[in-house]
Amino acid sequence: MQKYYIKTFGCQMNVHDSEKIAGMLKSLEYEETNKKEQADIIVFNTCCIRDGVEQKIFGNIGDLKRLKKQNPNLIIAICGCLSQQNGRAEVIKQKFPFVSIVLGTHNLNELKNYIVKFKQTHKRIFDVWEKEKAIDENVEMFRTSNYNAWVNIMYGCNNFCTYCIVPYVRGRERSRKMEDVYSEVESLVNNGYKYITLLGQNVNSYGNDINDGKTTFANLLKLLTTIKGDFRIKFMTSHPKDLNDDVINVIATEPKICNTIHLPVQSGSTKILKLMNRNYSREQYLNLIKKIKQAIPDVYLSTDIIVGFPNETEEDFLYTYTLIKEVNYGGVFAFMYSKRTGTVAEKMENQIDEKIKNERVNKILKLSKSLIKQQNKEMCGKTFEGIIEKELENNKYLAVLHSGKNVIVESENSLPILSFQNIKITNNEASQLFGVINN
Ligand code: 5AD
Ligand code: SF4
Repeated sequence: MQKYYIKTFGCQMNVHDSEKIAGMLKSLEYEETNKKEQADIIVFNTCCIRDGVEQKIFGNIGDLKRLKKQNPNLIIAICGCLSQQNGRAEVIKQKFPFVSIVLGTHNLNELKNYIVKFKQTHKRIFDVWEKEKAIDENVEMFRTSNYNAWVNIMYGCNNFCTYCIVPYVRGRERSRKMEDVYSEVESLVNNGYKYITLLGQNVNSYGNDINDGKTTFANLLKLLTTIKGDFRIKFMTSHPKDLNDDVINVIATEPKICNTIHLPVQSGSTKILKLMNRNYSREQYLNLIKKIKQAIPDVYLSTDIIVGFPNETEEDFLYTYTLIKEVNYGGVFAFMYSKRTGTVAEKMENQIDEKIKNERVNKILKLSKSLIKQQNKEMCGKTFEGIIEKELENNKYLAVLHSGKNVIVESENSLPILSFQNIKITNNEASQLFGVINN
């Protein structure tokens, strides 16, 4: 059997797209290998969110020359956000003559046809579609994420945050029909998946494009909780401007929905938020957090931060720093602003020095670490729901809380693997959490 090797760069959305790529390759009778030296076809599923990622991918493509020399029949395909970006397919074509196929985000599902065609003609294929097409519901997937399943509920983004390349490479928002999402989730639950993570760039605007009064994110969540079975729902990403009371209420009242919200703030300064076109102020964001914490007292909040956006002064940065402290996030993903071609921020004056960006990002990482340390301490004595992942050794199990934190659970009684349990945290020695069952 011929072998495939897929390398995924970037976000969860891409990880899930790679499951679709794997599905196509399986249907062409390829099997997976995790050694690219053994592969007959190599697919890079790329990202372009920051320049660093882009440069790394170009470096990685360059490295494939060696493998192509060793195996002239090797097929190399590059797809995803980087190849969708204006002009990049041409760059790949010129710079890397050993690449066989390049396609973008809108024609990902064509990969199978392109491979068949390439094998027949041995002519290089470069095809990137400018516009998104209707959602294709007939995709084969080969899931690779254990008991977690990713489910796209929508594609694209309409927000045009001024730093962000995503709306240019993923197109406008298109929502899947509620009944299609329902069928997929139902069959996943029937097949034993325990966590269903709903994916969209901005899940809270789910249904806006359908605009029938029924297709909303809150209604979708409610509908999915009617599916029978022992499973939990997560979702990402939420945009603060669109996270409404209905959604907060569903999360607060539905036990099947995890109390975890990834709510990127990006900056704590109203001035910078305005320049970013985020459509909320520091005060509005903090009020939203207050509301969420009141409705869902044990909520686990995480965020994304960009430091060094053009015009960010020390004072602006301090606003971000103090906001992180005030919200007391469980997880902070901090990035240095990276200029993206074609975005509004690319043209802004007062770009910030790399050295300053670096200092600021490190300050945030340090702060985040100290917050987490303190939070872990405060978890002692409290009870959290999690899943029993595996047995470790005599009477010890590894559990994963909905927040993603690992806990070593001691239990005299045997615990079913992949069962949900309430776990009381008893100790957190050397940042490892320990607990007991408290159902
Ligand atoms: N520079 C730095 N970070 C960015 N992000 C998006 N675009 C950029 C950029 N140009 C970050 C945002 C977003 C996350 C997925 O990546 O914080 O939420
Ligand atoms: Fe980018 Fe903003 Fe859309 Fe997120 S909401 S994908 S940051 S434009």
